[in-house]
Amino acid sequence: MSIVRTVVRGCGAYLPERVLTNHDLARMIDTSDQWIRERTGITERHIAAEGELTSDMGVAAAQRALADAGMNASDIDLIVLATSTPDQTFPATAVTIQAELGITHGAAFDIQAVCSGFVFALSTADNYLKGGQFKRALVIGSEAFSRILDWKDRSTCVLFGDGAGALVVEVQETAGAALDRGILATCLRSDGRYRDKLYVDGGPSSTGTVGCVRMDGPEVFRHAVTKISEVIDATLKQAGYRPSEVDWFVPHQANKRILDGAARKLGLDPDRIVITVDKHANTSSASIPLALSTACEDGRIKEGDLVLLEAMGGGFTWGALLVRW
Ligand code: ACO
Repeated sequence: MSIVRTVVRGCGAYLPERVLTNHDLARMIDTSDQWIRERTGITERHIAAEGELTSDMGVAAAQRALADAGMNASDIDLIVLATSTPDQTFPATAVTIQAELGITHGAAFDIQAVCSGFVFALSTADNYLKGGQFKRALVIGSEAFSRILDWKDRSTCVLFGDGAGALVVEVQETAGAALDRGILATCLRSDGRYRDKLYVDGGPSSTGTVGCVRMDGPEVFRHAVTKISEVIDATLKQAGYRPSEVDWFVPHQANKRILDGAARKLGLDPDRIVITVDKHANTSSASIPLALSTACEDGRIKEGDLVLLEAMGGGFTWGALLVRW
């Protein structure tokens, strides 16, 4: 009996030209390269140019993903954009990306789950595709976090950066065998009791301003390893795999210490973790497709590999997704 699965066809990413190193930051605020590297693994981040918008970065990443898939924009009938830094409060930034790509059919909308956004967006697209409503989707994570940072708050501004990444996914009929390509399992979670641990202190219906990122870092850290481990465990069980069978673990790139902690707890091979946080810091919903792009381009991730994605972010929201690449 054949079943439908959402298969990855292409991957692309974009980082703005301007690089801000830890040393640059140490000239702006009371911090040091050593403190940032030891606590987070970050050495530099990219910052969007003046006038460069979340939609611009999303379009650049989408075009690269389409080229990688060997497809035209007109082949796409769904765009799901994960972002917490939209161009405007409305319309959704996804419709700007849709227009810039010259797509006039299908649907485009934004998803807001902060750093977990890409996993939520990919899971959403997966369900629409498997449900038969659309055939091919661009799933994009794009963020201009530099615009919502308090550049005087050293406990947050050193952690984030700007960038975008995208996947082209397509629904395909498969035999439903273990080695058939496609998304195999997804688990999404949220618990709003923790919404004040990581948030932005502004919004249209509260202050009428955009606001800045505020975070209780140690509290986020404390929850991260446990929550990430639980959802990975549930996702692997759902698909019937063990951690040792995962070829590549591609987590949300927030902090190397969190990733190492989760990998240790689950018994994941450290050599099988894709880590790019050193080069672009935490780019929120863009970080997973940025890491995926790097590992596809350098030949680590190959067709047929079992790839595990995971993220946690403000809300709290968290989730994991297992895909046969
Ligand atoms: N440079 C130098 N010193 C700093 C800096 C900085 N940039 N920021 C804070 N400090 C100081 C603090 O003031 C404090 O000084 P004190 O002891 O004199 O009071 C000291 O460093 C320790 O501060 P803590 O906040 O306790 O440091 P901690 O070891 O917890 O590390 C960090 C902070 C890196 C933020 C850590 O808590 C963390 O990684 N949390 C997870 C946060 C995260 O990754 N968030 C991303 C979004 S959520 C997600 O994506 C999973």
